[in-house]
Amino acid sequence: ALERTLSIIKPDAVKKNVIGEILSRFEKAGLKIVAAKMKQLTKEEAEGFYAVHKERGFFNDLVAFMISGPVMIQALEGEGAVLKNRDLMGATNPKEAAPGTIRADFADSIDANAVHGSDSLENAANEIKYFFNDSDVVSH
Ligand code: CMP
Repeated sequence: ALERTLSIIKPDAVKKNVIGEILSRFEKAGLKIVAAKMKQLTKEEAEGFYAVHKERGFFNDLVAFMISGPVMIQALEGEGAVLKNRDLMGATNPKEAAPGTIRADFADSIDANAVHGSDSLENAANEIKYFFNDSDVVSH
């Protein structure tokens, strides 16, 4: 089915100047960028976005990392977009990410892991709403 998913190019990948290379992988896989913006997240925005992880030991480090520089946030649209994006990203821990995936090629550590992608269709809808107004998402 035609789906939308939220993608974030994290501060490590923005610093490496590989936004275009990552977006190109999405486009080559048939995903369309239907919303996009650069943003310096505030601590409150990062904490709210990752609220499901707030009891986890890695939460504070994750939030600190996500506000360490600007991110590029996108909504991606395509057939099976949620799983397709997760396949393109590879495993959360770059040490476990399959060769040729975004994290295998660009990530340095489990926190500085280049990209975030929604893990379910339900979370995707909530995550897109967290960052974009309905009128900022365009089908094309
Ligand atoms: P992301 O997909 O953005 O969702 C939560 C993030 O927490 C994850 O990617 C990792 O960057 C980070 N993280 C740090 N440690 C862990 C861990 N042990 N398990 C899962 N995610 C972790």
